[in-house]
Amino acid sequence: MEKTSDVIWQDTQHQVLFQLLDQVAEEGSAVEVLGQLRDYAENHFSLEEEYMRLLDYPGREAHVRAHDRFREELAEMSMDADQHDAISRQVISTFLREWLTRHIFTIDKELEAFLLASDAH
Ligand SMILES: [Fe+2]
Ligand SMILES: [Fe+2]
Repeated sequence: MEKTSDVIWQDTQHQVLFQLLDQVAEEGSAVEVLGQLRDYAENHFSLEEEYMRLLDYPGREAHVRAHDRFREELAEMSMDADQHDAISRQVISTFLREWLTRHIFTIDKELEAFLLASDAH
């Protein structure tokens, strides 16, 4: 059944993030894909943060802090990306996937409800 209550751009971007995480776990793709994941995550976080700023979202500070933690984890994990073997890429992918899933189903859900109620999506 088709869902009709999503904020479309947010939902679509989350799906792309999961696709990139799948690619991170694939053999031989670490350096480029981690870079793509970093860029895409940054664009996505920036867009959510822009909406929160424009709408004066009450949960903004905690949400931005959560994004910042992901930014830091990702930057740290990307640092020696060319030395990552297949196993560590899988660990990175699994770790980030769990973080993102938790984030999307808690803190992003609240923002989504706020955006839908505000008609600004
Ligand atoms: Fe998000
Ligand atoms: Fe978020």
